Amino acid sequence: MLAKPTMVDMETLVSLCKRRGFVFQSSEIYGGINGFWDFGPVGVELKRRVKEAWWKRMVQWREDVVGLDTSIIAHPQTWVSSGHVSAFSDPMVDCKKCKKRFRSDTDVSTGKCPECGGELTEPRQFNLMFQTHVGANQDDASVAYLRPETCQSIFTEFKNVQTVSRLKIPFGIAQIGKAFRNEITPRNFIFRSREFEQMEMEFFCHPTESAKWYEYWVQERLDWFMSVGMKKENLRLRPHATDELAHYASGCTDVEFQMPFGWSELEGIANRGNYDLTQHMKHSGKDLDYYNEETKERFVPAVVETSVGVDRTCLALLINAYHEEEVKGEKRIVLSLHPSIAPYQVAVFPLSGKLREPATRVEKSLRRFFAADYDEAGSIGKRYRRHDEIGTPFCVTYDFQSEIDQTVTVRNRDSMVQDRIAIDQLVNYLNDKIL
Ligand code: GAP
Repeated sequence: MLAKPTMVDMETLVSLCKRRGFVFQSSEIYGGINGFWDFGPVGVELKRRVKEAWWKRMVQWREDVVGLDTSIIAHPQTWVSSGHVSAFSDPMVDCKKCKKRFRSDTDVSTGKCPECGGELTEPRQFNLMFQTHVGANQDDASVAYLRPETCQSIFTEFKNVQTVSRLKIPFGIAQIGKAFRNEITPRNFIFRSREFEQMEMEFFCHPTESAKWYEYWVQERLDWFMSVGMKKENLRLRPHATDELAHYASGCTDVEFQMPFGWSELEGIANRGNYDLTQHMKHSGKDLDYYNEETKERFVPAVVETSVGVDRTCLALLINAYHEEEVKGEKRIVLSLHPSIAPYQVAVFPLSGKLREPATRVEKSLRRFFAADYDEAGSIGKRYRRHDEIGTPFCVTYDFQSEIDQTVTVRNRDSMVQDRIAIDQLVNYLNDKIL
């Protein structure tokens, strides 16, 4: 058996994603729409698993973080206060010849059009927020924005959440949700799209403690990536240089992943000071400060933010898990996804169509505990191949011996070793391996 060490290229991965139902181009029958993607039946399971893994570690397992789910469209003043209306933009240039548009800071290196070599216009700022109108009147007064990040409503809801949860500082508020950016050049599949999901957490603390919490969250977030199966050698931390930092931030570190197109940001952890709360206080006229009853001190909390894209994490996990092997002269494609995030944790196959009924019974009994799939199409070998390609860690086969002694085979995706297990012990067996 030969493991192929080279990293999967994007073309191979995109093709696997389509073939196996992870990701489709949005509106494909109309020719697609650039920067938008649909997650298929297998992809949606992966995405859910990633979000669950994040929520468990960031909210469920902690006493100092609570969740929130806010509207995608907020009061437009939110985006004036946060600085997005005036400054959430990328520099854009047009090609005078082919009329294509590019980001001048990242897409253009020679001063000429990267597509046709034509002359480019002077750069101008392009605001990335999608605009819409709220209500029946379509005028300046009804303009609203699709949120470009989920965190601003965490700041505007800070007081409400703190009051109802009665949490004392330090504590965090976490949110998972859609964000929208009208990227000039969406690219690299789901890495940079115009609609995506973020998982963000704002940790509110005393300003004298923010440096300590910043260090803590950088390490904690790196550990999370490894807990869902990311290989250490595919990850690195990149602290921002001082001239990269926003004027209010005193530190920012990216968790980067080695993509086929180079090291790229998956997550940013930032020590944002009290900038956001102060801005919203200034523009709303409302108090968003905190009173410490023990020390009798009133202050505006500092914030450490962790911000990661769901889609980008899914892409990294797929690349991290992909490998090819040669087995008996044939290529085997395997996604060695961690069992906690695999779309299906177990698949059940009847060896023959005659065994459909008892095999379905086994599958139904597993569904209550695990993400389970049932497959009777094609040979057993084909079914193994399909589930290897979508990362199912365990495949259970119900065969004729099962009728006699109430046992099944359980095949391990990575080792391909098969164990014979009593059906009434299956849940325990899988629990031990999966949880
Ligand atoms: N609240 C801070 C914030 O939004 P960001 O670095 O702009 O910071 C955070 O975004 C994360 O959101 C990124 O690290 C990335 O994972 C994800 N993200 C940002 N833009 C994206 C895009 N166009 N497509 C997919 N994911 C994106």
